[in-house]
Amino acid sequence: MSIFLCFLFLSFISLIFFKKLSSSKGKLPPGPIGLPIIGNLHQLGKFLHRSLHKLSLEHGPVMLLRFGVVPVVVLSSKEAAKEVLKTHDLETCTRPKLVETGLFTYNFKDIGFTQYGEEWREMKKLMGLELFSTKKQKSFKCIREEESDLLLKKLSESAQTQTLVDLGKALFSFTGGIIFRLAFGQNFRDYDFIDMERVEELVIKSENTVGMLAFTDFFPTGLGWLMDRISGQYSRMNKVFSKVSNFFEHVIDDHLKSEQHQDHSDLVSAMLDMINKPTKYGSFKFTSDHLRGVMSDVFLAGVNAGVITMIWTMTELIRHPRVMKKLQDEIRATLGSNKERITEEDIEKVEYLKLVIEETFRLHPPAPLLLPRLTMFDIKIQGYNIPKNTMIQVNTYAIGRDPKCWTNPEEFIPERFFNKSINYKGQNFELLPFGAGRRSCPGMSLGITIVELCLLNLLYFFDWSLPEGMNIEDIDMEEVGALNIAKKVPLELVPTLHHS
Ligand code: HEM
Repeated sequence: MSIFLCFLFLSFISLIFFKKLSSSKGKLPPGPIGLPIIGNLHQLGKFLHRSLHKLSLEHGPVMLLRFGVVPVVVLSSKEAAKEVLKTHDLETCTRPKLVETGLFTYNFKDIGFTQYGEEWREMKKLMGLELFSTKKQKSFKCIREEESDLLLKKLSESAQTQTLVDLGKALFSFTGGIIFRLAFGQNFRDYDFIDMERVEELVIKSENTVGMLAFTDFFPTGLGWLMDRISGQYSRMNKVFSKVSNFFEHVIDDHLKSEQHQDHSDLVSAMLDMINKPTKYGSFKFTSDHLRGVMSDVFLAGVNAGVITMIWTMTELIRHPRVMKKLQDEIRATLGSNKERITEEDIEKVEYLKLVIEETFRLHPPAPLLLPRLTMFDIKIQGYNIPKNTMIQVNTYAIGRDPKCWTNPEEFIPERFFNKSINYKGQNFELLPFGAGRRSCPGMSLGITIVELCLLNLLYFFDWSLPEGMNIEDIDMEEVGALNIAKKVPLELVPTLHHS
């Protein structure tokens, strides 16, 4: 009886929601018909970006769905993406408050998931100054060089013994070594509390937890709360978060013990020094939760997207020997045959590498759905009315495969970018690996420098082959993940030194 009453109550709520939406002015976007209470949740499969792509082929590039009782508009064309991220950037640049992101960001005290406003602006400015400014990037040069040398040493050892290398692990160690040293002052290789492999595990678990849909976010209060507890989602989420939080406490304690907090040598030390001191903006002060929120951003956003990009690039190169040969020939011809170290100046010289990375971003954007936005006003997209408080998802995976933008979209052809003015920096809405507008990725320049530098090292010094007995057709392209989408089966290759 009580289940029946509950069902009636929820159907009633769904009805009110529908009436409210359809009474909004103008035409709403089309979309698949949903069920009472759950809306369109039953039409979503394991990978949200793929399910939404499939639905958009039927319902169009501006599509309205309901996740439970929450309206979600999905954009799958460059024109629609441009209208939201450029024309209506200011009206849509806040984020929805979701339980998982709230937990991992110490109640939205971060940059990536916090709501638009003064606090977000201040935090972004701080990150820009302490992590991304040109001055900082120059002073971090030696960290990048040290990490490159270490990577080369490890790969050369494997080359000498012709041993398989799990590229994911090697590249996480390289990228994490740089980002964690810049932000947390530690590379975690010789850390007594945790090693790099466990950090990697924790990053991936955290990304998957944050990227998962929680019932609390999409069902009326009480019901969602109960469902998250019954399904185990709540305890899974808290278990992962408590490990992350414990890890952050160790890093902070280390800074306090060694008085590293006074030297501004990394992001944590700079923030520790600012806690509770006045900022330029009225009463706003950084608190210890802001410090942990920003640490969460670095942890969730700073390392894995770059690693995923490099793994997909190497996978596509191995699958396309013509492209691999052309790229290595160009790199070696441009840089000469007796280089001992790749420098950042070398990055600018190899044009074809840029095309290869752009093509990888098109087919395998690490975050195929940009972080969700929320409309702060009623707006119109492609003639459709999008009411205030609607969640917006931009599907860059679908846009990257749109035949209206790309010839033979499923094929890996870096030459398609030759002599085209399309790049990934947020002005070309058919290619948005870093997003666009106010909420685009502030780590783009650092992230892409690390990716290019690392790929140049891999491709200049080594030739790469599949394990014995394995053919190109055997390479598994299955995906895994939620917030970031990675290659599921590790890419294992044998390196051979090119200039021995
Ligand atoms: C190849 C590397 C990277 C890729 C592909 C990437 C991609 C992205 C994407 C797609 C977004 C969401 C943009 C949107 O919603 O419109 C984002 C946001 C963000 N990224 Fe990155 N990212 C990378 C590297 C980094 C690095 C190195 C950092 C910092 C250490 C970083 C920090 C952030 C932050 C803080 C945000 C949130 C911005 C906001 O909401 O205001 N990212 N990134």
